[in-house]
Amino acid sequence: MRILLTGGAGYIATHTAVELIAQGHDVVLVDNLVNSHPEAVRRVERITGRTIAFHVGDCADPEVLEKVFAEHEIDAVVHFAGLKAVGESTAQPLRYYRNNLDAMLTLCEVMEARGVRRLVFSSSATVYGACEQVPITEDMPLGVTNPYGATKLFGERILTDLADASPDWHITLLRYFNPIGAHPSGLIGEDPNDVPNNLFPYLTKVAGGKLPVLRVYGDDYDTVDGTGVRDYLHVVDLARGHVAAIDHIDDRAGVGVYNLGTGRGTSVLEAVRAFERAVGRSLPYEVVARRPGDIATCYAAPDAARRDLGWTALHTVDDACEDAWRWQQANPDGYRTAT
Ligand code: NAD
Ligand code: WQD
Repeated sequence: MRILLTGGAGYIATHTAVELIAQGHDVVLVDNLVNSHPEAVRRVERITGRTIAFHVGDCADPEVLEKVFAEHEIDAVVHFAGLKAVGESTAQPLRYYRNNLDAMLTLCEVMEARGVRRLVFSSSATVYGACEQVPITEDMPLGVTNPYGATKLFGERILTDLADASPDWHITLLRYFNPIGAHPSGLIGEDPNDVPNNLFPYLTKVAGGKLPVLRVYGDDYDTVDGTGVRDYLHVVDLARGHVAAIDHIDDRAGVGVYNLGTGRGTSVLEAVRAFERAVGRSLPYEVVARRPGDIATCYAAPDAARRDLGWTALHTVDDACEDAWRWQQANPDGYRTAT
């Protein structure tokens, strides 16, 4: 199939492009580069040995998408494009709602007009809100605690209403848990623009000497060692989850919803130890107060994806640490290293 990846120059999309091409699919990428670098697309070309069709433009602009669909015979879309920083979304709610919802609505309108009705959507475990019952299954109550999460929940709702109204649509909502790691080649990986908010990119920068010390947000949770527990998923496994979703998109009409996670929880201190093993030395950290809005424990029940999509996460957190460290060493300043 020929698959359009919106947000195609981003962290998860570039890894997905590599895996889709490896499985015989064609890809077309569109991205406005608000949180990515064109070098990422050149790296995908290096890994795959293919020339990639890449359009720079905003998915909220109908002219951009109409041009993309006019130039390429698209069979299905994976919609990654969106702003994703939780803290920033609280400070700039209108920017998040405008960008994430406009991009979604414009994409669906152009797809409908073109008669392309196969869509995979990047959703998030954030739609489970403060749900503390684990493992999390897809039927658990939804709720949100920040504007970013609200854009994901509204996105799911828009797509569900669309499928209810028009039975030709085949839509898969993928709720990612915590993606980490990098491609084993060391050529593509996570490249945050500013100081990272998330644990693994932060830890990677501490290991690379770019940041002095990791702050561990609280060690008084009711968990194995008092620190927060999450379901960290290697980005290559996550990318293969998209290939599985695309390969099963014709199975049934309507909306399918799947958690993509490992089903295993890892604490912050366990994550630090794993990264230390990859680097071969200890890493500086200090325990500070809890981060507002954090929950103690969150991990997926990934059974539905295994049953319906035949997908399971295969990599360990140690694998992801080794790959993230390889990426950091080869690209100390991310994609800017190359330019
Ligand atoms: P990313 O920022 O690396 O990728 C998103 C890409 O979308 C970026 O390249 C950005 O430039 C582009 N973009 C944003 N708005 C756009 C627009 N209007 N038009 C065109 N391009 C636009 O982030 P990622 O981690 O690869 O995330 C991809 C998707 O997965 C996002 O929708 C994100 O919300 C979702 N997600 C990410 C995580 C995570 O922890 N990384 C977890 C759950 C869900
Ligand atoms: C993980 C653990 C922190 C940073 C977020 C979004 C979620 C999804 C994935 C997009 C927690 C602790 C972190 C640090 C720390 N994104 N931590 N020091 O919060 O589970 O999920 O990213 O959809 O929506 O909310 O991930 O990596 O920020 O935190 O101690 O410097 O690491 O307290 O226990 P989170 P995270």
